Amino acid sequence: MTSSSALVSLLSLLAALMISVAQGACTTLLTTEDAQYVFVPKGLDPGLYPPQGNVPIAQLFAVGAQHYTANGTAWVLTNATADLFNSRFEKVGVHFYLPQVDPMGGQPSWKTTSPPSLVTAKRLFTVQVHTNSIAWALLKATSSEDSCGLFGDVTYVQRLFTLNGLPPSTAPTKINATFSSSYTSFYVFYKQL
Ligand SMILES: *[C@@H]1O[C@H](CO)[C@@H](O)[C@H](O)[C@H]1NC(C)=O
Ligand SMILES: *[C@@H]1O[C@H](CO)[C@@H](O)[C@H](O)[C@H]1NC(C)=O
Ligand SMILES: *[C@@H]1O[C@H](CO)[C@@H](O)[C@H](O)[C@H]1NC(C)=O
Repeated sequence: MTSSSALVSLLSLLAALMISVAQGACTTLLTTEDAQYVFVPKGLDPGLYPPQGNVPIAQLFAVGAQHYTANGTAWVLTNATADLFNSRFEKVGVHFYLPQVDPMGGQPSWKTTSPPSLVTAKRLFTVQVHTNSIAWALLKATSSEDSCGLFGDVTYVQRLFTLNGLPPSTAPTKINATFSSSYTSFYVFYKQL
């Protein structure tokens, strides 16, 4: 083999590697098995369902906390942070609030790092299903990034099956006091058909 043909085969090997890495970037930690775990009960308050034409692509389990700050008279929700797990309990992403509300009014966000993707949404509707847990909710996406990743092109997010996460039932006594309240929930992510 001449050195130039060796170089050509090295270059084509590198090109093939780069293509497989690029394709690999489009795989997610979700399997077809995950789609079978999407469970959205029928008969909920109609406000909790996204419009027809949106289909669930994943249901992730969230373990985290709702963060509250005292404004003087009340506990105000200021952030939420959670880890997101697929049906095999592998961590696939995180939930958090953007530092600022986005131009479309969205702040709650869900993010994957590998491959990267982000969706931000605003609340459309909430209903208190259990008195000792945060509301169930429907959120509409205000922006999303990286269609290759799980959350790219997501249109709606539902928060269902919440457990705990409420602020203290007594009014705060100190301004700017903070309180983090552990919670779990499922988030269901929708895309347009
Ligand atoms: C604190 O938050 C409550 C509930 O959102 C609101 O009604 C009240 O006006 C707020 N108080 C101050 C001082 O901002
Ligand atoms: C919420 O917490 C996350 C993680 O610490 C942080 O990146 C984000 O900026 C916070 N958002 C707000 C509104 O404080
Ligand atoms: C509460 O926090 C705000 C924002 O960080 C700050 O401007 C204000 O001075 C604080 N008030 C008190 C009483 O600590």
